Amino acid sequence: MAKKIIIANWKMNPSSLSEAKSIFSSIKRISSKSKSTIVVAPPFVYLNLFNKSRGKVFLGSQDLFWENSGAYTGEIGIEILRSLKVDFAILGHSERRALGESDEFVSRKVKASISSKITPVVCVGERERDSHGRYLEELKNQIKRSLHGVSKKDLAKVVIAYEPVWAIGKSAKDAINPERLHEMVIFLRKVLSDAYGRQSAYLPKIIYGGSVEPGNAKGLLQSGEVSGFLVGHASLEPEKFKAIVETAE
Ligand code: PGA
Repeated sequence: MAKKIIIANWKMNPSSLSEAKSIFSSIKRISSKSKSTIVVAPPFVYLNLFNKSRGKVFLGSQDLFWENSGAYTGEIGIEILRSLKVDFAILGHSERRALGESDEFVSRKVKASISSKITPVVCVGERERDSHGRYLEELKNQIKRSLHGVSKKDLAKVVIAYEPVWAIGKSAKDAINPERLHEMVIFLRKVLSDAYGRQSAYLPKIIYGGSVEPGNAKGLLQSGEVSGFLVGHASLEPEKFKAIVETAE
């Protein structure tokens, strides 16, 4: 079985340093017993806290800016992240897209991330579903535009996180069900196949995010055909995160 990848997306949480340290130490313990790739993506200001003593945990950023350094007020550039030994970058998360992040920006970030050897985790997902299947068109355009300019050769360096927006931040019962997820993974591979050719379509790992909890993780992994998860709220609760990680073992 290929190695699974489980990413803890802490979003804008927790609000204190001490809490952040405590959750991180629990995740460090969980990762020491796991064969999966465990990534913690905390708010930027906590990265430096974890960078030196991280055990088997990989560090992720929740965004990045495509320039190395310079006059870009408020942005966090690639060189800063590399100096903190960040391995992954979540890009184009729907919560950033809702604040105005465009596909064009996402694609620039994806390319910059690949060239600086930070693995991009490119988030895509429809906002809502309609009975005419227009959401599939929305998803297809989002993938193609977000990966614009990414070469076939670099495709294997990309992780795609399928996160339907309607399933984010709820509970296991509101998440996608495993069969639907499987259909969506087939659809994503088809879009990649049309853009890059059949064989290349299988190069990127596809993970799922949107209310992954201990109650639905096993089914989603088994029948959903995904290589792991992007976990939001449950990643702030070590017991829940541990149970999710254990389903991947
Ligand atoms: P959630 O968040 O697990 O809280 O639904 C997932 C995400 O937005 O990455």
